[in-house]
Amino acid sequence: MKPHVLCLMLSSIDGRLHASKWTKSPDGGPKAWSTLYEQYQDTLKADAWLVGRTTMAEMSKATAHPVGRGDSPSRPVHRAATATGPFAIAVDTSGSLHFDKPAVNGNSVIVALGANVSDDHLRELAADGVSYLVGEGSTIDLAAMLETLSTTFGIRRLALEGGAAINGSFFAAGLVDELQVIVGPGLDARTGADGIIEHGEEGLAGRVELTFVGCETMPLGCVRLSYAVGRARAKGVSELRS
Ligand SMILES: NC(=O)c1ccc[n+]([C@@H]2O[C@H](COP(=O)([O-])OP(=O)(O)OC[C@H]3O[C@@H](n4cnc5c(N)ncnc54)[C@H](OP(=O)(O)O)[C@@H]3O)[C@@H](O)[C@H]2O)c1
Repeated sequence: MKPHVLCLMLSSIDGRLHASKWTKSPDGGPKAWSTLYEQYQDTLKADAWLVGRTTMAEMSKATAHPVGRGDSPSRPVHRAATATGPFAIAVDTSGSLHFDKPAVNGNSVIVALGANVSDDHLRELAADGVSYLVGEGSTIDLAAMLETLSTTFGIRRLALEGGAAINGSFFAAGLVDELQVIVGPGLDARTGADGIIEHGEEGLAGRVELTFVGCETMPLGCVRLSYAVGRARAKGVSELRS
């Protein structure tokens, strides 16, 4: 069964994701808003949080440290002996992330990889106490990945936490159930700066629909917006005529 996927992002008023680039406010600044975002994350009671390769690379700075040849590593799934939820998941198709411990921010790491990842890389992850799952193709089938996370790791509620690219892929695949955005009172305004959800030239028009669920004023001038996410409905006859 697919886990419930809740996308949570911190955004500027103009929808951008690099908090360090935003204007400040008498109500606080990007650092304080980021702390508020992290405190709110803890209240979600998710079994796991998931980020893209770029975002995880900011949290794990380890470099490659080959562990030598041995038995063939287990494929397609390896669950580390010490792995317990909540989990920290990274989508890293080509296997470019490295870890020097089994956990990030205190949560057991799981890496989702493409089929072309080398045995050497899998051995290194296993030696570091990191769990992994290897997809069947050179790109990662996110729906199949979610099924494995549910069946093998018991993940029922997953917080999707950016960045823009991985969020966009999840939305485009119709895998997001809920979107929550904490808007800080800051502006980015740089031409071409990343938005909180991006999906190439194509975007998401005609793919998803958001239904307002509620909003909450938060400390430091922030507002939390909450939406249910559904698949876009086919256009009705009257809409097609207009
Ligand atoms: N404001 C917030 O709440 C918030 C939250 C999280 C992150 N951030 C910021 O967001 C920035 C990173 O965002 P980003 O959009 O550049 O990167 P990202 O979404 O973190 O990572 C994108 C990478 O993930 C890998 N990936 C694997 N499968 C993918 C798929 N199906 N779809 C998309 N990506 C896939 C790709 O790596 P390969 O190229 O190796 O294949 C891709 O380049 C960071 O600076 C971080 O600080 C902000």
